[in-house]
Amino acid sequence: MWGNAEAQWCHTLQPRIARWLPTGNVLEIAPGYGRWAQFLIGLSREYMGIDIAENAVDACKRRFATEQHARFVVNDGRSLEAVPDEWADLVFSFDSLVHVERDDIQAYLSQLVDKLAPGGHAFLHHSNLAMYPVRGLTRWDEWRARSVSADTFRRDCSDVGLRCVSQELIPWQRTRFIDCISVVEAAPKPSPPGSSTTPLPAVPASPDTVVVMNPYFSLEGLSARRIRRIYHGDTPSQTPVAGNTVGRVMGNRDEAAKWARGWLSFLGAALRSTTAKSRPL
Ligand SMILES: C[S@@+](CC[C@H](N)C(=O)[O-])C[C@H]1O[C@@H](n2cnc3c(N)ncnc32)[C@H](O)[C@@H]1O
Repeated sequence: MWGNAEAQWCHTLQPRIARWLPTGNVLEIAPGYGRWAQFLIGLSREYMGIDIAENAVDACKRRFATEQHARFVVNDGRSLEAVPDEWADLVFSFDSLVHVERDDIQAYLSQLVDKLAPGGHAFLHHSNLAMYPVRGLTRWDEWRARSVSADTFRRDCSDVGLRCVSQELIPWQRTRFIDCISVVEAAPKPSPPGSSTTPLPAVPASPDTVVVMNPYFSLEGLSARRIRRIYHGDTPSQTPVAGNTVGRVMGNRDEAAKWARGWLSFLGAALRSTTAKSRPL
């Protein structure tokens, strides 16, 4: 929808995490071939990418070989053993954990409590499919982890002493809000017994989380493509047949399909968000 990774980063991801960047240490969970690492590395003092796939880690090692402060590690899909305690100022994961089921999400969250630096945040994109009844799910929806929702994620944060600050429920090219982006921070730890420092006030592990359904997410890609076409000289892959705007869009089947999908997703999601407002998560 966005056209390329740079557009998606600049238009959708960077605005969401700008308040924490540039930063000290960045941990990316499941970087794949480095689509977001290419931006995060330059915005961090130290970067670590942890992925279950050895071939992805090897590819990243080759791709970012000149970046002395970046390293890539293979894990078993749930361990953050390679990360020193209180190391990560920002934990980032986008377009990966949506496929990861609840037990592995719980494993990651239980370790993040120790891995997050004081004042650090985690920006985690995960499934929200468990919000929907199994009946009526499509094959597309099923690519998401069925056992995870914004609700289960929030509870799992609370269970391990993480504060879930916000949750943005988003559709992914369809109308259901099958994904969620959660922002998480470590709750202040109580002082050890006998410590001479003033004890920190007790903070509930899960204060009120801001939970928002965002149907406009579907339009961000379309908007990014339009901006790129106007200001960056990007052209559609096929030659347009007509001179007016509708003709220019419709004359290109690929563009027309993306345009229609974006708007259908937005309209469907907007409708769902108004009818679902009273439903508890
Ligand atoms: C679709 S790729 C996306 C990579 C990157 N986030 C992006 O947007 O380009 C998904 C990546 O997640 C990794 N992955 C899947 N489950 C994982 C897990 N439980 N822990 C770590 N990595 C995982 C896969 O190996 C793969 O590299």
